[in-house]
Amino acid sequence: MLLIPLNRCELCKYMPQAAVGAEIGVSRGEFSRVLLAEANPERLHLIDPWEQPADLLDTSDLPPRAKADNVYESVLAMFASERASGRVVVHRQYSQDALAGFADEYFDWVYIDGAHDEVSVARDLAGCAAKMKPGGLIFGHDYTDRIQGFGVVPAVNRFVRTTDWNLLLLTIEDIPTFVLAKDLEHPRVRMLRSLLYRLVPGMVELRNDPLDSFRHRTHTFEEGGCNIVMSFGRPGLNRPP
Ligand SMILES: C[S@@+](CC[C@H](N)C(=O)[O-])C[C@H]1O[C@@H](n2cnc3c(N)ncnc32)[C@H](O)[C@@H]1O
Repeated sequence: MLLIPLNRCELCKYMPQAAVGAEIGVSRGEFSRVLLAEANPERLHLIDPWEQPADLLDTSDLPPRAKADNVYESVLAMFASERASGRVVVHRQYSQDALAGFADEYFDWVYIDGAHDEVSVARDLAGCAAKMKPGGLIFGHDYTDRIQGFGVVPAVNRFVRTTDWNLLLLTIEDIPTFVLAKDLEHPRVRMLRSLLYRLVPGMVELRNDPLDSFRHRTHTFEEGGCNIVMSFGRPGLNRPP
């Protein structure tokens, strides 16, 4: 497994180019724009039910559904030209329903960032795995144990333990992105690894099986502020001062 000193936007440059991808959990479409620009997909499916208001930005008195409608409409408008050309397809659906409508071996990559509880993440991982091409890559956001109610870490770890998918890499960030690959020797996966080795200085390779020992440790300073460190290994070892 690799730890790579990139953020998720920088990572997008290394995604398979001119491919078929999906983002599960779109919200306002800000990261969809990054995916479109950096991964340059031939087709990008944007999947979100837009049931809940995206965030607290909308302080109007509108009912929640109307706020969600506004966000959905803004995403449709943002990608109007790409939708007209067929390059972007917007699905106002829950991931489980949308994924069921795709053929097997359809996606080159997916980016999972929908519901973050463990059951939902596990369902998205299984649902996507069933639709990936050979050599396909499953990306996902929020591999952290710092956010209450998020179950990305246990869902990903269990998925890796119980299937033939591997955790290929994590970005070194306060909110890491994970990347899973099934066949580590597939040419596309080898190509990604080789690009990263060639172009990204300062990567870290973890060669034993560190997954279940991962903790995001917050170090708070007396003068204020904090630093978040990705920590692996048995508790008590290498405890920072
Ligand atoms: C964290 S936001 C996504 C942010 C976006 N990926 C970005 O980086 O800008 C999570 C989104 O997931 C959506 N969501 C929740 N449950 C979902 C599901 N089952 N399938 C697809 N999307 C879901 C929510 O409506 C919300 O818009």
